[in-house]
Amino acid sequence: MKIDVIHKKKSDIDKVDFSDIKFGAFHSDHMFEAQFFEGSWKNFKILPFDNITISPACTTLHYGQTIFEGLKAYKNKDDEILIFRMDKNAKRFNISAERMCMPNFPEQYFTKAISELLILDKKWIPNKKNTSLYIRPLMIALDPFIGIKPAENFKFYIFTCPAGNYYSEPVRVKIETEFTRAIKGGVGYSKTAANYAASLYPSVLAQEQNYDQLIWTDGKTHNYIEESGTMNLFFVIENTLLTAPLGDTVLDGVTRDSILALAEDLNIKTEVRNISVDEVINSINNNTLQEAFGAGTAATIAPIKTIGYENKDYDLPKIDSSSLSSKFLDLLDGIKYGSINDNHNWITKL
Ligand SMILES: Cc1ncc(COP(=O)(O)O)c(C=O)c1O
Repeated sequence: MKIDVIHKKKSDIDKVDFSDIKFGAFHSDHMFEAQFFEGSWKNFKILPFDNITISPACTTLHYGQTIFEGLKAYKNKDDEILIFRMDKNAKRFNISAERMCMPNFPEQYFTKAISELLILDKKWIPNKKNTSLYIRPLMIALDPFIGIKPAENFKFYIFTCPAGNYYSEPVRVKIETEFTRAIKGGVGYSKTAANYAASLYPSVLAQEQNYDQLIWTDGKTHNYIEESGTMNLFFVIENTLLTAPLGDTVLDGVTRDSILALAEDLNIKTEVRNISVDEVINSINNNTLQEAFGAGTAATIAPIKTIGYENKDYDLPKIDSSSLSSKFLDLLDGIKYGSINDNHNWITKL
C-alpha cells in the first residue's frame, strides 16, 4: 500500500486548549482516505481534514450501511507514540464489515494507515495524565442508488481527535427494561450506526432522569444484563469478577478483553456468565455487591455510583484505591502510557 500525502498548509493546533480538551470536539490536521471500487481498495491518501462530498442518494445515508471503530494512542515519557491493541480493532472492524456486507479492509492496511497518520500528526497527541488521541476509522457505502442492496463502492477514512477525560466522576446508570438495543440474530455485535441511532431516544429519556448511561438488558425478557451505551460492564460480587458473555447482542470490547486478561494475571476469581438483574439488585440489597464499573476505550474504566431500576435508585459502595476498578485502571494506564511492562504485547510503539 503506497500512501500519497497532501500536507495541510496551516495547522489548526493553536485553536485547541490542551489544558481542557473536550472529547471529540477537535479534529487533528489530517485524515486518511481509501477508495473501494471494481472489487479492490485503491487511492490511499493522507490529506487535510475536511468535509467530504457524497451523493444525497448514497446507501449510507438511507440504509445505514456504515461501520466504525474507536481506539486510542498515547505518549510515553520519551515522547514516543504508543497505540493500544490496534490489531484487535482491525479485526473487529472486519467482523462488523462482514455483517454489514462491506468489504474487508486488510489488517496491515488498517495498522499502516493509522501509524502513518499518527506520525504526521504527532504533535496532536496530548502528553498529560488522562489524555490521549482518539482514533476513529470508518467505512461508508457510496452507491448513488435508491434500492436496498449492498453497495459496490465504499470509502474508508481515519481521523483523530485529542481527548481528555470522558467522565469526570463515577456514573449513574439506569437498567433499561422497556427499550432494546440489540436482539439475537441482529447487529448488536457490529459497530454499525444503527445500534447507536436506536439507543439515542432511550438514552435521552434516561438523561432527563439524571442518568449518565443505560444498562441494556436482553431484548426478549429484559431480565439479563448485557452492556452499557459505550462500555461493557463488570460487577464484583462476593470477591468474584463478573461480566456478561459475548454473543450477537454484545460488542466484543477491547477494554473488556484486556480486563479479563489482567484479572487472569492477578488470579482474580472471574466468571463470564449471564448476570440477571435480580442478582444485581439482590446483591446490592444484601451488601454483597462490592463494585460495578463500565469498561470502554472512551471512558477506560467508569466506576458506577448509582444504579436506577424500576423508579428506584440503588447507591453502590464508594470506590477507593484498593477497589478492583482502581487496580485495573492503574494497570491499563501504566501499559498505555508505557510505565508498566507490556507483557501481553498490546502496544505498538512508533
Ligand atoms: C456498544 C459498545 N459496547 C462496548 C464498548 C467498549 O468497547 P471498547 O472497549 O473496544 O472500546 C463500546 C465502545 O466501543 C461500545 O460502543
